[in-house]
Amino acid sequence: MENHPPVRVERRPVSEEESRRANGPDWDRYADEYQSTHGEFLGDAGFVWGPEGFTEAEAGILGDVADRDVLEVGSGAGQCSRWVRGRGGRAYGLDLSFRQLQHSRRIDGETGLSVPSVLGTATALPFADDSFDVVFSSFGALQFVSDLESAVAETARVLRPGGRYAFSITHPTRWMFPDDPGEEGLTASQSYWDRTPYVEVDDATGVVAYVEHHRTLGDWVSLLARSGFVITELLEPEWPDGHERVWGGWSGVRGRLTPGTAIFGADLRVTR
Ligand SMILES: C[S@@+](CC[C@H](N)C(=O)[O-])C[C@H]1O[C@@H](n2cnc3c(N)ncnc32)[C@H](O)[C@@H]1O
Repeated sequence: MENHPPVRVERRPVSEEESRRANGPDWDRYADEYQSTHGEFLGDAGFVWGPEGFTEAEAGILGDVADRDVLEVGSGAGQCSRWVRGRGGRAYGLDLSFRQLQHSRRIDGETGLSVPSVLGTATALPFADDSFDVVFSSFGALQFVSDLESAVAETARVLRPGGRYAFSITHPTRWMFPDDPGEEGLTASQSYWDRTPYVEVDDATGVVAYVEHHRTLGDWVSLLARSGFVITELLEPEWPDGHERVWGGWSGVRGRLTPGTAIFGADLRVTR
């Protein structure tokens, strides 16, 4: 990640509480830079699933959102939810970072398209059972939580039977490679099966400052299936011709050869 105090990188187990305590303040620190660097690419009321620029208008993975109750988990500045609102969906946001939500409020005011949003965490959704028709995350929350089992169970709980779940994450195969957009990032150097979290520790204080969690494709499939979902899609957007934007470790150099983003689509079974 960008814009941190001096940190050292480790791979080691981290609890849910430690992940949350690190990532909330980290996103608060990073939010201004994130929005000024990526806001234009995301679009104030745009819906991209990842750095490839693949849009929900192209994917159609949420289905028709008009007149649907929709929750975005890890909504950041609410760009995707605003896109949903523009198509007649009742989209709501939830994010761990207060500063990201302040950006969401700012863009609400600038666009006149408001996304009611709450501060919270993916592992304890502050909503009643059966509240939503659609829950989605575009690179939001899921790879930042340790207790993924609870995050997916919470999604199943707030979805109505037959509801739709879709999310994008860093493609699990990317974890084999250094997080480098250049040629360096094309040589596998770590085990795909090593789920030990990526941790940045503040050099001065020794406090965990940022955490990301990795799961294999098989982990995701098994978790969704045992949480009551039927997987209907796994999209792996290709890097488009002429797209030269670099976002962290995502670039044309790597994107033309290996997938950078995985997008799952699933339906909650009608009988659980
Ligand atoms: C990469 S951003 C994605 C947001 C938005 N889709 C975008 O493209 O800008 C990840 C978001 O997940 C949020 N997040 C991290 N951990 C979370 C958690 N445990 N619960 C909810 N949101 C979380 C961060 O605060 C951040 O706003």
